[in-house]
Parts: sequence; structure tokens; C-alpha cells
Amino acid sequence: MERAITLRFLAEPGEVNFGGKVHGGAVMRWIDQAGYSCAVNWSQRYCVTVYVGGIRFLKPIQIGQLVEVEARVIYTGTTSMHIAVDVWARELSQSARQRTTHCIIVFVAVDEAGKPVPVQAWEPQTEEDRSQRDYAQRLMQLREGIEKEMSRFHST
Ligand SMILES: CC(C)(COP(=O)(O)OP(=O)(O)OC[C@H]1O[C@@H](n2cnc3c(N)ncnc32)[C@H](O)[C@@H]1OP(=O)(O)O)[C@@H](O)C(=O)NCCC(=O)NCCS
Repeated sequence: MERAITLRFLAEPGEVNFGGKVHGGAVMRWIDQAGYSCAVNWSQRYCVTVYVGGIRFLKPIQIGQLVEVEARVIYTGTTSMHIAVDVWARELSQSARQRTTHCIIVFVAVDEAGKPVPVQAWEPQTEEDRSQRDYAQRLMQLREGIEKEMSRFHST
């Protein structure tokens, strides 16, 4: 099973915001699509987004730039997959690309009834893998405080 996936395409005029750059909502859609593809690829199951964290828009994306959305599994729980997503952009005429967005998105594999089901564990192989796994775990700990603070808005 593939651990990582990259979507590549041109930023189109239909995705423009009021400032003439790519709309933040379009970038969030790409992040969700790349994360979803990565999660389904890894788990071989239908998956749903349970959490999107800390989206940081570092640089704007210009219409006409080549966009690469890289998604990779950096941690698996029992039913969840923590996926790091990086969005890169570059002019077609240049080789240097710039990271424009980074975030962590968590997907859960579910059955036909929408009930979480176990996924295959991802085991870090390299030093870089272990560093990414540790990063995911530190973010989980940091999120506990945020979750507690926001929990009053979580009742349906
Ligand atoms: C995702 C969903 C099935 C989880 O159901 P649930 O009853 O909360 O299930 P659980 O408590 O067993 O949690 C399932 C997993 O989600 C993880 N999870 C729950 N809340 C989380 C959060 N805030 N951040 C990260 N992971 C979270 C749990 O840690 C668990 O992972 P693990 O099995 O690897 O330990 C349910 O919340 C849901 O259907 N949400 C809507 C999903 C959706 O429609 N997404 C599209 C966006 S509109």
C-alpha cells in the first residue's frame, strides 16, 4: 500500500479570489482531496475527515502556477490516519517551487454504516519517518487542550 500521494495540476482562473490569487477555499478543497486519496489508498477503505488542523497559508498561489499537493501518512492509530499535507507552487518556466501551505488532516476509515474500522498500522522506517511520527504525536497532545476548550461547541 502506498503511503504517499501527490496531486499535480495548474491553478485555474475559476479558482480566483477577490485579490486575483487562488482562493483559500480552493486550497482547502485540494488538501481534502489529497488527504482523502492518501487515506483511502493506505486503508483500502472509504474514509471520512474527522479533523483538519492548523492550516497555515504561507504564500499566495498565482493563477497559472503549477500546484503540487503532497499527502503522506505520518501516524496511524487504530482507525485513524494522520496525514501531513504540503502544497507547493511554481512557475511553469522555473524549477524552484515554494511551499505555500502546510497542515495535518486526520481521516478515519469507516464501514458501510459509518462505523470506524481498524486500519493497517504504518511503521516508521527511517529517521525522517520517526521524526514525522513524533511530530504527529506532539500535535495530538497539543490538540487535547484545544479540544477541551472547544468541546462546548461539540454537542449536537
Ligand atoms: C469520524 C467519526 C466516524 C468518528 O466517530 P466517533 O464515534 O467519534 O469514533 P471514535 O471515538 O471511535 O474515534 C474514531 C477515531 O477518530 C479519532 N478522533 C476523534 N476525534 C478526533 C479529533 N478531534 N482529532 C483527531 N482524531 C480524532 C479517534 O482518536 C479515533 O482514532 P483511533 O481509532 O485511531 O484511536 C464521526 O465523528 C463522524 O462521522 N464524523 C463526521 C465525518 C464527516 O462527515 N466528515 C466530512 C466532513 S463534513
